[in-house]
Amino acid sequence: MNGNPTLDTLMNRKSTRKYRPEMPERGVIDAILRAGQQAPFASQLYSVILSTKGKFAFGAPVSLVICVDAHRLRLFMKKRGWEIVTNNLTLLLLGIQDAAYMAQNLVVAAESLGLGSCFLGESSMSAERVRHLAKKHHLPELVLPLVELVLGYPAEEATPRPRFPLSFTVFENTYPELGDEALEEAMAVMDSGYLAQDYYKKSKAKIRIEGDRKDEFTFDDYSWTEHISRKWGQWAASPNDLLEVLAERGFSLEKQ
Ligand SMILES: Cc1cc2nc3c(=O)[nH]c(=O)nc-3n(C[C@H](O)[C@H](O)[C@H](O)COP(=O)(O)O)c2cc1C
Repeated sequence: MNGNPTLDTLMNRKSTRKYRPEMPERGVIDAILRAGQQAPFASQLYSVILSTKGKFAFGAPVSLVICVDAHRLRLFMKKRGWEIVTNNLTLLLLGIQDAAYMAQNLVVAAESLGLGSCFLGESSMSAERVRHLAKKHHLPELVLPLVELVLGYPAEEATPRPRFPLSFTVFENTYPELGDEALEEAMAVMDSGYLAQDYYKKSKAKIRIEGDRKDEFTFDDYSWTEHISRKWGQWAASPNDLLEVLAERGFSLEKQ
């Protein structure tokens, strides 16, 4: 498959965390946004807030807030004399997919035009971030900021990050019993891959351990599986704040 430009773009992509200040031409931004829209959709349950003025993460010149959006669905259904009766969970699950596939199209389109990008997932963990974005951008009910994406021309060289072995990811016909060997191999692929890039050492992105547990890692052995374990072993234990903000946005997940 060598020389296939689409595969090359996909295989070379990596998140960019340092940007040159120059603003991409409007035509370039519009081409990326249009390519985003051509993603498969259930019902185009998304909208995007584009900002080109302000300070964004990693010095990026462009910020996109990708939202799940059932507001416009409600508007055009009303014109047809219909009301949404679909439950909020289904609307949300479909909306998250519509928004995510579109967002990834943006990432790939940007990469193909020489731009880098990085998702910022704070709004999946912080009700405050959702409220801040909703207020800042005047988001109506049934519009939920899902993920932010910054874009621009990269000011850093990086190599693609590792992934689990395909054999740990794709299971033919039957989900296997995963033995220690397969698990350790997959963990080693990820950890050695990130260590080879000095990924956490360079970004000093070690997550602190809360409580009494001793931190026995240095940047010589702190890597992806420990990082991810510290995240999901410590963060966002309660869904309550997010459930509250979802209800504020019109997506109450109370039993209906
Ligand atoms: C939903 C989502 C949220 C993310 N949030 C952040 C973030 O807050 N900060 C960040 O630096 N990278 C974030 N990322 C980027 C991931 O860290 C990155 O994609 C992952 O480490 C794999 O690296 P790669 O994109 O370079 O292959 C996020 C990615 C996704 C899909």
